[in-house]
Amino acid sequence: MSDSDGGRRKGAPAMRRLGGEHLRELNNSLSFDRQLYREDLACSRAHAAGLAKIRVLSAREHKAIRQGLDQIESEIEQGRFPWSDALEDIHINIETRLTELIGDTGKKLHTGRSRNDQVATDLRLWVRGAIDRIDSLISQVQAVLLDLAENEAASPMPGFTHLQSAQPVTLGHHLMAWVEMLERDRQRLADCRIRVNVSPLGAGALAGSPYPIDRRYVARQMGFSDITRNSMDAVSDRDFAVECVFDLTLMMVHLSRMAEEIVLWCSHPFGFAVLDDAVCTGSSIMPQKKNPDIPELIRAKSGRSIGSLNALLVMLKGQPLAYNKDNQEDKEPVFDMVRTAELSLRGFAEVAAGLRFDREAMRRSASEGHSTATDLADALVREGMPFRDAYAQVRKLVAQADKLGKGLPELSEEEIRSVVPEAGADLRRALTLEASIASRRFSGGTAPMRVRAAVRIARRRLGFPKRRS
Ligand code: ARG
Repeated sequence: MSDSDGGRRKGAPAMRRLGGEHLRELNNSLSFDRQLYREDLACSRAHAAGLAKIRVLSAREHKAIRQGLDQIESEIEQGRFPWSDALEDIHINIETRLTELIGDTGKKLHTGRSRNDQVATDLRLWVRGAIDRIDSLISQVQAVLLDLAENEAASPMPGFTHLQSAQPVTLGHHLMAWVEMLERDRQRLADCRIRVNVSPLGAGALAGSPYPIDRRYVARQMGFSDITRNSMDAVSDRDFAVECVFDLTLMMVHLSRMAEEIVLWCSHPFGFAVLDDAVCTGSSIMPQKKNPDIPELIRAKSGRSIGSLNALLVMLKGQPLAYNKDNQEDKEPVFDMVRTAELSLRGFAEVAAGLRFDREAMRRSASEGHSTATDLADALVREGMPFRDAYAQVRKLVAQADKLGKGLPELSEEEIRSVVPEAGADLRRALTLEASIASRRFSGGTAPMRVRAAVRIARRRLGFPKRRS
């Protein structure tokens, strides 16, 4: 059913309507706010309960409204709901249908309520649900990473600064760094959820409600843990949406960095890992290609997230109190952000789970670039040399090794002593990858035993003490 040709639908509120078709199109939000229908119904059920409690609705009227809302829910879910673009948005669509279904009682539902507090409530409910889903998706990615980190707790790879080989690390340690980034993302979202989970219902259009509705009771019906304290702030505040979108954007920036590393690792010059065929495509012209499309897309989607965050901030910055229609523009960035985050987390979990590492290639690369030069200096320190002198000696040795076309570990004892006469007998041992890695065994370091302990601690914190099968 559509009444966009101008006739008012029976049951529709007698609101002022916009003149032209283009204006109605500009004003319309139904195409996207439809997805708030569950939250809008929850909000209406809670509001009806509040009205019944103060006897604005009789028990019989309350029951009729509840049944009408239930019927609307099944109509929407079964695809039989008569949506109408002429009814502006999700709220007017549902209210109109309610009156169509149950008659004049339906006209009482909007008592003491405005779409302004209604939409703020709906969006908070929606964002709260999204945070909960995303929290669980992030922890699923963490679970995959923890299994990989445990497997690779002792696998040497080059650690980079400036993308130059710096010091050897273990792949497990590298993957646990990703787990940490994601853990901060979960903490941020959990903190944001506290401010999201506050009910604005009862703020009315902006000034509050003239009905003695028990706002806390209504809030509890929707699982909110608190109510807003100022009605003007309540209808105009979208900080909770900005915060959530920022938290998700930063999470996407983290996924983007990780995806970039995967792209590098799987590139030919690195050759540290190969991706599962399921997350790659081929080239239409180069038969040998296997392209890392999914990590590349995740990397690119972080840009889209930054766009959503920007849109929300700019939407807010010029608004005087209280509600302005600008706020209708909050939904698409929020919805798009959440969809992007969910898709990307699911995709990333599959990418990570399908990675196959080439330990030999990583080890070879880890021993290049004189990566254990610092360890040699540290060994000289253990023999009593001040660190700055040791540093200078090792620099000379590196120059000598370059001249001979050798890596530091390939130098013979004599070659070492010709530059560093103080070098003790077991100095060459310090140059091995294993010794270098094992020596970094203090808190936060890359030693395999540290990595294994970090995995254990993280598993316990995340509440999945066992590895996934
Ligand atoms: N569709 C509107 C929104 O998304 C609902 C609130 C409309 N309020 C109003 N005063 N026009 O914000």
